[in-house]
Amino acid sequence: MDISNIPIKNRKDEHILLVSKENVESHTTTWLEHIKFVHNTLPELNMDDVDLSCKFLGKSISAPLIIGAMTGGTELTKKINISLAKAAQKYRIPMMVGSQRVILRHPETKGTFAAVRESAPDVPIVGNIGIAQVATSENFDYVEELITNISADALAIHLNVIQEVIQPEGDKIFSGAIKKVKALKEQYNIPIVIKETGCGISREVAQQLVEIGVDIIDVSGVGGTSWVAVEYYRAKKQGIKSKMDLGKLFWDWGIPTAASIIEVSSMVNNTSKIKIIGSGGIRDGIDIAKALRLGAHFAAMARPFLMVALEGQESIYQFIEKILRELRITMLLTGSKDIGELIKTPIVIESSLKNWIKQRNIEIK
Ligand SMILES: Cc1cc2nc3c(=O)[nH]c(=O)nc-3n(C[C@H](O)[C@H](O)[C@H](O)COP(=O)(O)O)c2cc1C
Repeated sequence: MDISNIPIKNRKDEHILLVSKENVESHTTTWLEHIKFVHNTLPELNMDDVDLSCKFLGKSISAPLIIGAMTGGTELTKKINISLAKAAQKYRIPMMVGSQRVILRHPETKGTFAAVRESAPDVPIVGNIGIAQVATSENFDYVEELITNISADALAIHLNVIQEVIQPEGDKIFSGAIKKVKALKEQYNIPIVIKETGCGISREVAQQLVEIGVDIIDVSGVGGTSWVAVEYYRAKKQGIKSKMDLGKLFWDWGIPTAASIIEVSSMVNNTSKIKIIGSGGIRDGIDIAKALRLGAHFAAMARPFLMVALEGQESIYQFIEKILRELRITMLLTGSKDIGELIKTPIVIESSLKNWIKQRNIEIK
């Protein structure tokens, strides 16, 4: 899909263009490199014995890999959504759609999301809305439409405070959000995912989320796509120097993904049935294995899926096969027959991550 000459009709298309053409990755890493698996040279296991399968929202999936929330709302993003959904269906992995807020003002865009369910009838699909919308809503009757639009298995509410405050046209009202999420959850019998968008989630915030009974926390930490970087490039195009300066300053703000998974899992895994998605800079099968070993139940990738979707359908398939092969090899080399064994395999934690764990008084199992 060549998008260099597409007319930019709205913010979503502009985001797609910037995310695919500019270097919008954070300068700092996920810190997953501070984790070392202890190599098992005698795994007593065959490659074909390694089992990646698990369950997401009660549905069987082939591997703990999720296509992260990105698109919908325009003709371009409809094409991307369909390509990704076909891959989700073929490999039996879940997919999260991008923010569905646009549907509320432009109902004619519904089909750009509905196409996901049409192309992926059998896998878990997660809807999406922003926390600013939820925080300022007087009632949640509109949510029904978002759920039925894609026959959603769950609804994700994304936290993107940093992006909103950096862009002049962004929302600035966030107080009262927790109460509103609770009210939304009470009104609808649908699992709620709370997800960051690249700044990570702390143990303290996880505790608040446990208290209101959310079902899944997607940490989306620092180390991958930086939304501040995206806003920096938008400001550069618009020639707004003050916003460019803010972008440079906050480019790498947040909790690295490895630290965020440890934070959230230290709060969640002992006390509740909440599942954790490790995301933000997950780029290969070893990253997925490390995220799972630290306490995530699944791993999600966003930008890498966009890049291969723009190359074409076959590229998405090849990418998923490559990632799953890498995960399978990592499991073999740690002697892990399945995910249950992977999460118990020995690791050594080094450097900044070790320091973070110590200062935050977290115990690693
Ligand atoms: C092009 C693009 C659009 C995105 N749009 C959304 C969105 O609408 N809603 C959302 O919750 N997250 C959105 N995200 C954030 C991702 O879901 C993810 O949290 C973040 O990009 C970090 O993952 P990554 O490093 O694998 O890209 C978007 C990411 C990308 C790359």
